[in-house]
Amino acid sequence: MTDLYAVIGNPVAQTKSPRIHAEFARQLGQDLRYEAILAPRDGFAAAVAEFRVAGGRGLNVTAPFKLEAFALATERTDRAEQAGAVNTLKFDGASVLGDNTDGAGLVRDIQDRLGFPIRGRRVLIMGAGGASRGVALPLLHEQPASITIANRTVEKAWALERRFAPFGPVDGGDYARLAGRQFDLVINATSASLAGELPPLPAGVFAPGSFACDMVYGNEPTCFLAYARDHGAAQVADGLGMLLAQAAESFLLWRGVLPDTGPLIKMLRSG
Ligand SMILES: NC(=O)c1ccc[n+]([C@@H]2O[C@H](COP(=O)([O-])OP(=O)(O)OC[C@H]3O[C@@H](n4cnc5c(N)ncnc54)[C@H](OP(=O)(O)O)[C@@H]3O)[C@@H](O)[C@H]2O)c1
Repeated sequence: MTDLYAVIGNPVAQTKSPRIHAEFARQLGQDLRYEAILAPRDGFAAAVAEFRVAGGRGLNVTAPFKLEAFALATERTDRAEQAGAVNTLKFDGASVLGDNTDGAGLVRDIQDRLGFPIRGRRVLIMGAGGASRGVALPLLHEQPASITIANRTVEKAWALERRFAPFGPVDGGDYARLAGRQFDLVINATSASLAGELPPLPAGVFAPGSFACDMVYGNEPTCFLAYARDHGAAQVADGLGMLLAQAAESFLLWRGVLPDTGPLIKMLRSG
């Protein structure tokens, strides 16, 4: 019987996930169907229950349901526990496993596809929302020299420092505090690029040979990536590779095999 998976969110019309997972399944000869579910904002649990009754085996969870998915899971991976949010659910009998694949996806994209080793590097994460929280621990596992978290609302950066400092060299603060410091890997985990805005980075943060990465993606380079190129970053990448890599990590959790994201980047960029 064909196994059933889906992405659930609100809105969900813009999602690329059904196309991505259909391509993964074709690549690996897996018999599965993958749909998109638009759940009412107050109807996440009911929509999940209905999906399970219909034989659903797993879900990708997108905004605004990642915290509800965390609460619904009966078991969670360490990375989901630390992120405090779940973007992947796996159903097995009565068990509901919650995982968060964003960080693993980002790390895999930066290191494996783009060839930039994280070990020993000074990492700056801009933003202290759900995405920042989801990637901090997987980045720390790669043993960077340090991770600095900068955020407009400084209390949120301090909260992430408290949360992650037990696991490695993490400090948090506002953007002004970055003056005079340099970083090898600068990750824009804010949503600023969506509004065509730049986080207030002081001049000179990009170290020679540095890599700038924006979690936002689009047909044109984001304003942050254009700024990074003009201010000394040697390599830049948008979030499409991360999107594909986190999808591949979900596929691995559900099916036990890791798809190759390389061919899909070109396919999705060409429309
Ligand atoms: N490519 C992928 O696979 C992938 C995966 C996950 C997320 N993302 C993207 O990553 C972005 C962040 O997601 P999220 O879930 O963390 O969102 P979120 O929880 O809403 O957090 C948004 C963050 O952006 C900051 N921010 C927003 N506008 C800003 C501006 N103009 N200047 C400076 N900081 C600004 C916020 O700062 P304050 O706290 O001060 O408001 C906050 O830290 C989104 O655009 C999302 O689409 C991409």
